[in-house]
Amino acid sequence: MLSMPPEKLEVFKSLDGWAWECVVPMLKPVEQCWQPQSLVPDSSLPHEEFMEEVKALRQRAKELPDDYLVVLVGDMVTEEALPTYQTLMTTMEGFQDEPGRSPNPWAAWTRGWTAEENRHGDLLRTYLYLSGRVHMKMIDKTIHYLISAGMEHGLGNNPYLGFVYTSFQERATFVSHGNTARLAKEGGDPVLARICGTIAADEKRHENVYTRVVEKLLEVDPSGAMEAIAYMMEKKITMPAHLMYDGEDPRLFEHFSAVAQRTGVYTANDYADILEFLIGQWRLEKLGGLTAEGKRAQDYVCGLAPRIRKLQERADERARKMKPRAVKFSWIFNKELLL
Ligand SMILES: [Fe+2]
Ligand SMILES: [Fe+2]
Repeated sequence: MLSMPPEKLEVFKSLDGWAWECVVPMLKPVEQCWQPQSLVPDSSLPHEEFMEEVKALRQRAKELPDDYLVVLVGDMVTEEALPTYQTLMTTMEGFQDEPGRSPNPWAAWTRGWTAEENRHGDLLRTYLYLSGRVHMKMIDKTIHYLISAGMEHGLGNNPYLGFVYTSFQERATFVSHGNTARLAKEGGDPVLARICGTIAADEKRHENVYTRVVEKLLEVDPSGAMEAIAYMMEKKITMPAHLMYDGEDPRLFEHFSAVAQRTGVYTANDYADILEFLIGQWRLEKLGGLTAEGKRAQDYVCGLAPRIRKLQERADERARKMKPRAVKFSWIFNKELLL
């Protein structure tokens, strides 16, 4: 499954024309794109006016709870490891961008996608830097460690797996940025709500693209695509920043995830929700024309969400019985949160 047999590669290659027509145009023209500068204080303003804008930002950020900040930082760090994700994409079979400007639609899509994603980390970083609420040096160290560490994505160079993974991930980031937007609004920072909401809208558009590609794969190669979905779900979707480290807490990712769970920004239930959403989006329950292997994959995937929820309920119950423990986060100057 981790690499593609030649006949499958032929199937994938036959989609190039479709990709030029339906995938690449889903990138937004640069002239119509938002840029980070328009959502943070404008440094080209006269000094006093700029300082007023910064002051207002800091005033609004003052009330944001510590656990919220930890989640926002974790999301930002995840976005900032973009070089790792671009590398992942360009090593997929059929995506290779050999001369750096390959005239192939998947390479063109990947370059444009990277450019769009690049604004996400920049924008969150600028906001957090100006907020004065977080320890930027520790955050920058975390990003440094994370990009150096890479990730164990387990996709090999199989684009089928790649598209299932990115469909899931873009939806997961859409959900989590949407939730940080909602919490910012409730917490009295409408500008931060707009920042997170703007990023979430990009993630949604990317989700649409990747889910459409999987839809296309299900059309041209139903069993192959169905088996790829089952393979990914069986292995579980690894989060992109799972190797996160700040030089101090070796369990930083686990701790960040626990805060995300507790604040409701990204929870185990979201995982099952995303799976159910994708099953519906791809109409997997009704998918016909499958081989015996493909049918087995279909049964497995379509019955998985309730099983995940049941396991989660049991884990939640166990967690409720455990005493909360205090965990320090270097990102917020070693303040402790109860997890
Ligand atoms: Fe992003
Ligand atoms: Fe994304």
